[in-house]
This record gives sequence, structure tokens and C-alpha cells, in this order.
Amino acid sequence: MDFLALARQRYSVRSYKPDPVETEKLDRILEAARLAPTAVNIQPFQLIVIQTANREAELLRIYNKKWFVQPPIVICGCGFPGKNWVRKDGKNYNDVDVAIVMDHLILAATAEGLGTCWIGAFNPAAAKEILGLPAGAEPIAFTPLGYANDQPPVKKRKPLSELVRYEKWSQQLGTKH
Ligand SMILES: Cc1cc2nc3c(=O)[nH]c(=O)nc-3n(C[C@H](O)[C@H](O)[C@H](O)COP(=O)(O)O)c2cc1C
Repeated sequence: MDFLALARQRYSVRSYKPDPVETEKLDRILEAARLAPTAVNIQPFQLIVIQTANREAELLRIYNKKWFVQPPIVICGCGFPGKNWVRKDGKNYNDVDVAIVMDHLILAATAEGLGTCWIGAFNPAAAKEILGLPAGAEPIAFTPLGYANDQPPVKKRKPLSELVRYEKWSQQLGTKH
């Protein structure tokens, strides 16, 4: 599949089948995450792969939507804001590093025919407690991982002409081509 087709195929899946995720698929998805670039190649992240079976009640304390625990697996992307690269002006790239890792993971899952959904609106205190995170670790994003039980909606996106400027901010939007 070419990359554009893959990007078009991914969508936020909010209904999952309970079917298991094949180990080979999970391994390829995690390998894609491992290959993600991070600032100065520090790789300051950990992925926690969580089996949802028998942990539904505590996982729902992290994110209280029934579809969050429908698939067999949930993955948490954690960063370590004290370990990653920080720009000279103090800008911390923790979120950026972990977001790229999670995006590799999510797109790789799409390529394997699996559904995912970025979850940012979780309870971080509950996540830290339930996952037993050490001091200094920050949960950045979750995704369920499993087979979709719904159909992709039509993508709603702004046109490129509203999103891209050429050469300078002050140039009129989308006028180059
Ligand atoms: C950083 C981030 C956090 C998100 N958090 C949530 C969330 O907590 N719950 C949810 O249902 N969707 C969440 N989403 C999914 C977005 O709502 C979704 O990606 C967006 O509406 C575009 O739809 P699509 O993913 O189907 O293309 C999040 C997406 C991103 C990128």
C-alpha cells in the first residue's frame, strides 16, 4: 500500500471486535514504533502493552469509554520529560518524540488491518497508578489495538489551501500552485 492510501485508511476506531491480535502483527507494529526518530536519537520512551482481559474495570478508570476495553490490547506511550532533548530556549521535545513513536505504531497497525484511536483525554493520575509508572515517567497517549467493528467515516479535513503557506506567513494562503 502506498503511504497516501495508508494515511487515508487510518481513522479513529471507536468500536472493536474482541478477536485476538496476532503476535506477528503486534511484533511488526512495535518494530515500526522502535524505528521512529527521536530528537538526538535519545529514544526516551517506553511502550506499555496491556492485555485488556480481566482488567476492564481499572482500564476504564484511565479512560471511561466502553470501546476502550473492547479490543484485546491497549497500548500506552510514555515519555520521560527529564531524559529527552530540550532546546536551548527550554522547549521540551518529550511530547513530540512520543507522538512520532505513537504515530509510527498507529500507522503500522493500520497497515496490518488493525484499528486504533489516539487517546489524549485520559486520567493521567489513574494511568500512573494502575500502570505502576516510576517517578519521571509521563503517560502521553493511549490507543486501543484490535479489529474494527465499524466502518470508516468520510474524512473531514480542511483543504490544503487553508493549511499551507508558501515562503512567508504574509503570502496569501495556497497561492503558489
Ligand atoms: C493527540 C490526539 C488526542 C486525541 N484524543 C482523543 C480522545 O481522547 N478520545 C477520542 O475519542 N479521540 C481522540 N483523538 C482522535 C481525534 O478526535 C481524531 O483523530 C480526529 O477527530 C480526526 O478523526 P480521524 O482520526 O478519524 O481521522 C485524539 C487525536 C489526537 C491526534
